[in-house]
Amino acid sequence: MKISFTKPGLPETGVLVVMGFDGGTLSESAHAIDEVTGGALSRAAKVAKFKGKLGEMVSVLAPSGCKLESIVLIGIGKPEKLDLLGAEKIGGTIYMSLSAKQPRTVSIAFDAVEGGEGRVWEHAAHIANGALLRSFRFDKYRTKEEADQKPSIRALKILTSSGGRARKAFDVLEKVAEGIFLTRNLVSEPANILYPDSFAQTCLELTELGIEVDVLSESDMQKLNMGALLGVGQGSERESKMVIMRWNGLQGKGRKAKTTQIAFVGKGVTFDTGGISIKPAAGMEDMKWDMGGAGAVTGLMKALAGRKANVNVVGVIGLVENMPDGRAQRPGDVVTSMSGQTIEVINTDAEGRLVLADALTYTQKEYEPKTLINLATLTGAILVSLGNERAGVFANNEELANRLKECGDETGEKTWPFPMDNEYDELIKSQIADMKNVGGRFGGSITAAKFLERFIEKETTWAHIDIAGMAWSTKDTPTVPKGGTGYGVRLLDRLVAKYYEG
Ligand code: BES
Ligand code: ZN
Ligand code: ZN
Repeated sequence: MKISFTKPGLPETGVLVVMGFDGGTLSESAHAIDEVTGGALSRAAKVAKFKGKLGEMVSVLAPSGCKLESIVLIGIGKPEKLDLLGAEKIGGTIYMSLSAKQPRTVSIAFDAVEGGEGRVWEHAAHIANGALLRSFRFDKYRTKEEADQKPSIRALKILTSSGGRARKAFDVLEKVAEGIFLTRNLVSEPANILYPDSFAQTCLELTELGIEVDVLSESDMQKLNMGALLGVGQGSERESKMVIMRWNGLQGKGRKAKTTQIAFVGKGVTFDTGGISIKPAAGMEDMKWDMGGAGAVTGLMKALAGRKANVNVVGVIGLVENMPDGRAQRPGDVVTSMSGQTIEVINTDAEGRLVLADALTYTQKEYEPKTLINLATLTGAILVSLGNERAGVFANNEELANRLKECGDETGEKTWPFPMDNEYDELIKSQIADMKNVGGRFGGSITAAKFLERFIEKETTWAHIDIAGMAWSTKDTPTVPKGGTGYGVRLLDRLVAKYYEG
């Protein structure tokens, strides 16, 4: 889809989208086209009892008096209430409902909305962004679908008086969308295609954007004593990997050039059978997206490098496949992590925390980041707590948790903070080792977080985001088609932009 911003003025051909406001009143462009068509639009609005609610739509096909294919009236609610997420919802809704018919050109006449959150050009950019985000499709394995069956819009034009500024704002949003699409693609790939080595190869392609990428092999990780991560991958034919991605946006920009301000760590279990503590068959296919945390970190790195963020950031992902096998790790095994701490593996299905333990230690030892955030599809329990609406945040620092809450609300990738009392830590004490990898039936997401906290150094400001309920969606929304959501990229891109850049 080619997206452009052009001057207001009614187009002669294609589909024209115009705005209607709360109460059913029409925008200037809507009035103009209504006149050209002899009142066809206002009659249609009346018949459809159009109220102008955000996302409400009415169409007039092949209207007389002009050569347009159709006119679409879309509600934007109360103009002064329209925020940037609302603008994205409009763009996404338009894409969703028009793309099936594959129109060549869709022009959206975005008449100035004064007094709303953001400015006209920002709204215009976000309308385009909403359409772009909704246009994602993972269709590479559909060999029977002809090109002319795929929903698409060839060209999208946003008609606005502040096109230049809108374009500039959109250019940045587009880079972030490219990161989100990388994450969605990674999360959607099946595990016979995406496994630790092929995942690492994809990361290596990011060097084109100026990201430095290192890949650790199993023998590298053995030398670093990463017994926790290696134990998880032990039953797999696929070699485990760790990938380190660095974006040095401050290079050549003075004093701070050498420090890593923020680091991101992701759980990358490319398939989680549960191992010897094997999962039930029903729904096990979902465990191809147990690398959602690693996928988000990778997409985030792409977004930050793409928009040339003024920050030094490192992304580290632990890549393993958790399989049952003659050589697989057994329940009851004791492993020694890179930190030197020993872990009794009670349940081989609680593998994500084992992978993260070594990735967290490595990241802190190697880069000493002030702030460290990890993402993981860590527990089924987080779905019991929060469903598919918010990710759980577990932090050793209230300010960081608050920032994640705020950035979540602003981007629509919402989070909710959880308690981290020390009493929960009691539950993971082991009789024979420093800790065990499960804490019993209750408070499962918190005991998992307390486990991770044992690998965080005192000076590190840290948050763990449990995205098990967010990485995958079974329903379409205006800006996120069902499937891999790319959750985490927008949230953390915003966090970096707001608090860590410059
Ligand atoms: N990958 C799963 C968590 C998960 C569940 C992600 C559902 C996405 C959707 C994780 O490795 C796991 O199996 N966790 C166990 C932990 C338990 C054994 C303590 C769980 O949540 O049941
Ligand atoms: Zn598991
Ligand atoms: Zn898992």
